[in-house]
Amino acid sequence: MSYVRTHTCGELCGKDAGKHVCLSGWVNKRRDLGGLVFVDIRDRYGMTQVFFDPNANAELFNLASSLKPEYVISVEGAVSLRPEGMVNSSMSTGEIEITADKLEILNTSKPLPFNMDQDNLDENLRMKYRYLDLRRPEMSANLRLRHKVIKAVRDYFDAHDFIEIETPSLVNSTPEGARDYLVPSRVHPGKFYALPQSPQLFKQLLMVGGLDKYFQIARCYRDEDLRADRQPEFTQIDLEMSFVERDNILSLIEGMIAFVFERTLDYSVAAPFKRLTWLEAMDKYGSDKPDLRFPMEIIDVSDIVSDSGFKVFDSAVSDGGRVRGIVVPKRGSSSRKECDAIIEKGKEFGLSGLVALAFNSGTPKGVLTKFLKEDRINELKKAMNAGGDDLLLFAAGESRSISVALGKLRLYLADKFQLEPSERFNFLWVVDFPLFSIDAETKRIVAEHHPFTSPVPEDEGLMETAPLKVRSNAYDLVLNGVELGSGSIRIHSRSLQERLFKVIGLSLEQANEKFGYLMTAFEYGAPPHGGIALGADRLTAIMAGKDSIREVLAFPKNHQAICPLTGAPVRPSDEQLKILNLKVNCSSEV
Ligand code: AMO
Repeated sequence: MSYVRTHTCGELCGKDAGKHVCLSGWVNKRRDLGGLVFVDIRDRYGMTQVFFDPNANAELFNLASSLKPEYVISVEGAVSLRPEGMVNSSMSTGEIEITADKLEILNTSKPLPFNMDQDNLDENLRMKYRYLDLRRPEMSANLRLRHKVIKAVRDYFDAHDFIEIETPSLVNSTPEGARDYLVPSRVHPGKFYALPQSPQLFKQLLMVGGLDKYFQIARCYRDEDLRADRQPEFTQIDLEMSFVERDNILSLIEGMIAFVFERTLDYSVAAPFKRLTWLEAMDKYGSDKPDLRFPMEIIDVSDIVSDSGFKVFDSAVSDGGRVRGIVVPKRGSSSRKECDAIIEKGKEFGLSGLVALAFNSGTPKGVLTKFLKEDRINELKKAMNAGGDDLLLFAAGESRSISVALGKLRLYLADKFQLEPSERFNFLWVVDFPLFSIDAETKRIVAEHHPFTSPVPEDEGLMETAPLKVRSNAYDLVLNGVELGSGSIRIHSRSLQERLFKVIGLSLEQANEKFGYLMTAFEYGAPPHGGIALGADRLTAIMAGKDSIREVLAFPKNHQAICPLTGAPVRPSDEQLKILNLKVNCSSEV
């Protein structure tokens, strides 16, 4: 008997009744009912019920009775309509069953290390046996979605005249703010390649090469702390264009997003997307990637509440700080205990003195009522657009730090109170980032995006005198509060690039040593250019409604950057180390 299928397990329906077919796949379940055997055979397309009758063929029936979950089988038989009352409308093949006349066991399976139908499976176990995890319909749907997204992206860019060009993986460092993964060279003892953190410098060189419109589904590698939306290797939808300004790139990406969502989810995305400057985003939402599906804007009420006699507010304002608040809708009736728990949580975010003002059927309650007269309370309510049953929370202190902390509280409360998101997908551009920032660890000036981002022309003159005031020509795309993509109009002149390197503390010598090839290229007719890269893993995970990008990767690493399936990373053999002229100076446990 041949195991080559005539149909998949998700394909047959009532109109196929009478056909003689061959299906191959895995035993999902065997049920012994009233002397008959029913087997659900499964492949990635679906499931079909197969029926074995002891009276028709005893030998076949006995073989079917020995089937266990995940055995690989091939079945031949006739498609028949299920008897009245036995139709299963929740299955695409629920109208029919196969009456088997042949069965072959192609392979057996040990009992599985986990129950595939169970929710909340241990993720490390899933990763260790990823090949079993991938048999689950949910995982195969995620990977299918990913395929469709990437296919739509390729079709979109192809239709817009872009060329997909592969850039190398063994490179000189391309910095994006993380540590490099290094690969030792055998041929050049003591020298190492870096794996690219992104194709950034190559895509800029492609523009110098006149290729004009480049894109790539690019693998990137970064040695950084991992979280739900970060993997050590990940995929970018990466592009670069010549002779464009910021808005050309933004509208191209809006078109791509609309195309991909329409094509893969049949979901219509409204463009253009909302835009906020970085300053607005930080002030109103305390984050450079605000989630606008929840209203709760941070509102500055310093002018209304100062000089009220309430010391916390008065002294914050007289010390040059601000008082800001958020409105939690319909939570004015929260108990004292609930409010105290929120205030306690606020401390974790750095809000030492969160103050609550609760409205219950229009009546205010809380310490502020002792200090603010009715008209001021009403003014406050109006400024914050608060309703008669809302809970208002205030914090006082240094302007930026209270906004950032209130921003975290805002997201915590949206989650705690399960606030209904205003829409399924919320896109936002954040523009006018600062060009430089101060690194929290080293306290040195660093490039906020990467050092190839150009300043906005009006601010260029401030680079040396007031670097932290310089705005960049950079933009981020945010989806549901996640940074989905990041890009900029680049520097394309050697002199400006040298100036920028100098501001971030690279001497001319160091700049030449690291990026001399780029600056040399700028001396040979580099066109103005810009681009962006979107995280393909993040995009697909959000489209699939998943919190972690590991759900849309076939073989992800765990939080310790280990692959539980293959055991990578491993210590090389002594022979390998000898060939590479390397000595390992620590035990692998370190
Ligand atoms: P950036 O470093 O912001 O920009 O990266 C662009 C996008 O890549 C995704 N991303 C990641 N996804 C998963 N795991 C990671 N470790 C990870 N790191 C980043 C994010 C992010 O928004 N060369 C520039 C782009 C440009 O300027 O054109 C760059 O790489 O979704």
